[in-house]
Amino acid sequence: MADVSSDGAFVEFERVQKSYDGENLVVKDLNLALPKGEFLTMLGPSGSGKTTCLMMLAGFETATHGDIRLDGVSINNIPPHKRGIGMVFQNYALFPHMTVAENLSFPLEVRKMGKSEREEKVKRALDMVQMGAFGGRRPAQMSGGQQQRIALARALVFEAELVLMDEPLGALDKQLREHMQFEIKRIADNLGITVVYVTHDQTEALTMSDRVAVFDDGRIQQLAPPDKLYEEPENSFVAQFIGENNTLEGTVKEIANGKALVELDDGELIDCKPINVSKPGERTRVSIRPERVEYNKERLQEGVHTLKAEVMEFIYMGDIFRTRLKVAGNDEFVIKTRNAPDVERLTPGQQIEIGWLPEDCRALDA
Ligand SMILES: Nc1ncnc2c1ncn2[C@@H]1O[C@H](COP(=O)(O)OP(=O)(O)OP(=O)(O)O)[C@@H](O)[C@H]1O
Ligand SMILES: [Mg+2]
Repeated sequence: MADVSSDGAFVEFERVQKSYDGENLVVKDLNLALPKGEFLTMLGPSGSGKTTCLMMLAGFETATHGDIRLDGVSINNIPPHKRGIGMVFQNYALFPHMTVAENLSFPLEVRKMGKSEREEKVKRALDMVQMGAFGGRRPAQMSGGQQQRIALARALVFEAELVLMDEPLGALDKQLREHMQFEIKRIADNLGITVVYVTHDQTEALTMSDRVAVFDDGRIQQLAPPDKLYEEPENSFVAQFIGENNTLEGTVKEIANGKALVELDDGELIDCKPINVSKPGERTRVSIRPERVEYNKERLQEGVHTLKAEVMEFIYMGDIFRTRLKVAGNDEFVIKTRNAPDVERLTPGQQIEIGWLPEDCRALDA
């Protein structure tokens, strides 16, 4: 049989499907390959199949179809504890009656590891998460963030090369969550481990990951590094799900030379970059990021097509101005403008002209 594994892939899903009831597929034809050392995040709405994918990789669920490989070896028939994978879950589930050190030592004890080796590994894991002084505490005597760090240490104590994390920061408040995001990323980078991380928080996905797989309805909608995902969404779902986005509805009039001419529903014609539209007559949703829109006359470059807009709301936010406009019938059109001496402050009711570069305006599926 031909070797179908992509070169150098450490973790690989190939045509993986999953059904729990033998009828509905909750994971549909998943193909994914991670090189060693990658931090990959599965991002998507509730029920999109993220946890299911992680559970299949960990070995707690079996794929209905397809193959999952670790370091080139199919793991479909290898039980969870023999896969050498560390895991962190949302409810970190430390044993309450054990100290931190005992919590970490326990899984090693189960694996019949000697006492001195266990102590050494526990110490190393606690140092990694800067909790070396907490070995004698019980879970109830620590903050949420500290408990989360211990849960992370417990996943690292095996020195597994692959660590899976399912919404590990979900229970923490915003500030602590943001702090832990950097902490986890730093530890993963320092150790050179491969991480598959699950979240439905797009900011978390963008700040931590080398690449993000955006899930919807059991499928990967787009797999790309954060900047590419934000700047070059390949379909309307991704454009809407990642960051703030403006949409205008219209119909494709013409496609030629890498440009699409779109007639907006109010009759305006604009040039766009055709992303997943292919022929005249097709309905499209045009997508433009708020920070790509200009209204300052001096800044509207030559050749930029302009549209009329009415100011609905102008919010001074210090570093930026956030303005809500009515554009081509859409009164939820938001633009963000960097505060600078030459930028005009707007007032509700004001009529202005806005513009953007054709390449910043993407014609996506309707
Ligand atoms: N053990 C199970 N038995 C039957 N159906 C399940 C089971 N686990 C998950 N499902 C279903 O599979 C689909 C995908 O669930 P999954 O838990 O993978 O989603 P998720 O993306 O992790 O969502 P969330 O963000 O809410 O955690 C859902 O429709 C869910 O109801
Ligand atoms: Mg889940």
